[in-house]
Amino acid sequence: MGTSMTDGFEQMWRDLAPLGRSAVSGGYFRQPFTSVDSELRSWFVDQCAVRGLQVEADGNGNLVAWWSPSGSAAEDAVLIGSHLDSVLDGGAYDGPLGVVSSLAAVDLLRERGVAPSRPIAVGAFAEEEGSRFGIACLGSRLASGSTTPEAATELRDRDGLPLMDAMSSAGLEPALGRAEWLDRVGTYFELHVEQGRDLVDRDAPVGLATRIWPHGRYRFDFTGNANHAGTTRMEDRHDPMLSFAMTALGADRVALASGQRATFGRVEVAPNGTNAIPSRVTAWLDARGDSETQLLRLVSEIKRQGAERADRDGTRLTVTAESVSGEVAFDPLLTSTLRDGLAASWGEVPVIPTMAGHDAGILAAAGVPTAMLFVRNPTGVSHSPAEHAEMADCLTGVEALAEALEVLVA
Ligand code: GLV
Ligand code: MN
Ligand code: MN
Repeated sequence: MGTSMTDGFEQMWRDLAPLGRSAVSGGYFRQPFTSVDSELRSWFVDQCAVRGLQVEADGNGNLVAWWSPSGSAAEDAVLIGSHLDSVLDGGAYDGPLGVVSSLAAVDLLRERGVAPSRPIAVGAFAEEEGSRFGIACLGSRLASGSTTPEAATELRDRDGLPLMDAMSSAGLEPALGRAEWLDRVGTYFELHVEQGRDLVDRDAPVGLATRIWPHGRYRFDFTGNANHAGTTRMEDRHDPMLSFAMTALGADRVALASGQRATFGRVEVAPNGTNAIPSRVTAWLDARGDSETQLLRLVSEIKRQGAERADRDGTRLTVTAESVSGEVAFDPLLTSTLRDGLAASWGEVPVIPTMAGHDAGILAAAGVPTAMLFVRNPTGVSHSPAEHAEMADCLTGVEALAEALEVLVA
C-alpha cells in the first residue's frame, strides 16, 4: 500500500503515459500547440483544478498554477515545475517528471499539514525543447523577455506555419511578451530527470545542480549546383552534401579533441532526390562548451573548416545562430541552503553540472534565484525513447522536492 502521494504520482504517470506515444518506437512526440499538446494542457489544468490551484495562461503558451494560502504575501512565490513538451521521439521523463513531481510535492506538503508562508506555483513551460519552432526554452524566454515578441513572430515551424497561427489554431490566445507572473516569483526550483550518469556513478538517487554549460543552435546552409547523378563527371560537381559531410566529420573531431560537444542532429536536403546532386543542404549544429570562450572557439573552428571545404567544393556556406544561451550558474546560496536542508534525511546530496538546457537556466539568467534537483537516470540516456528513471527514484525525488520546499516556505 502506497501513501496517497505515491498513489497520486503513479496515477498521474499512468494518465500521461499514452499521450503522444509512438506505437512504432515507444518514444514521445509532444510538440507544442498540436492536438497532443492540447491534451497535455487539459490534463495539467484538470490536475490543478482538483487541487484548487489557480491556473494562469500567460499568452506565451506557459501555464502557471498558484497555491496562495491566505495570509501569505502575494509575491516572492516559490515556482516549481518544468515542461510537458518533448523532443521528436523523446522519452517520458524529460519535462513531465518535473511537472508531475511538483503536483505530487504539493500533495505531500498538504498531507503533512504544511501551511506555506510564501505562495507556491507550479509551472508548465511551452516549447522547452524548441522541437517545433527551433528556439530552445521559447516559453520561458518570452516570459522573461530574453526573446522579443517581434523575433518570435517571425518563427515558423517546418511546414511554414507562424508561431502565432499555431497557437491560435490550438485554441490559445497568443499575447507574446514579458509575463507579469514573473514579478510574483522569488525562487525557481526545477526537478528534472538527470541526462547523464553522474548520480548512478555516485550511487545517489538525487542531486542538485551547479551550472549549465553554454550552448547554442546554429543553422548551416550549404548551397551548390543541382545536376544529374549519372551524367555529371565527379570532378565537375559542386555538391553541398560533400561540404556538409566533411563539416560534420570536422565538428566531431574538433569537439572530441577539445572536450566539448558538437552534434548535427537535423538535416534537410533539397530537392532530396536519389538521382540528383542536391542544390542545398541545411544542417543544424547543436554546440556546447564548458565556457563561453570554449563554445565560441568550437563554433568558429567548425565554421572555418566548413567554409574551407565549401571553397574547395565550389559551394557556399552561410551560418546563422538561431538560439544561444550563455553560461548559467545556479544560485550558490539557495543551492547550499537546499543542500543543508536535505542533509538530515538525504545525507550528502551531490552537486553536479549539466550540459543540458533548462527553463531554469533562462529564469536564472533573468535574475531569478534558481536551483535544480536531478533524479537518477540508470543509463544516462535522454532525448530518446530509452530515457528512464526507476519509480522508487521518482518518488524519492518528490520527497526531496517537498522537503526542499518546506525549507523554502517555512
Ligand atoms: C534540452 O534538453 C537541451 O539541452 O537541448
Ligand atoms: Mn530535453
Ligand atoms: Mn527538459
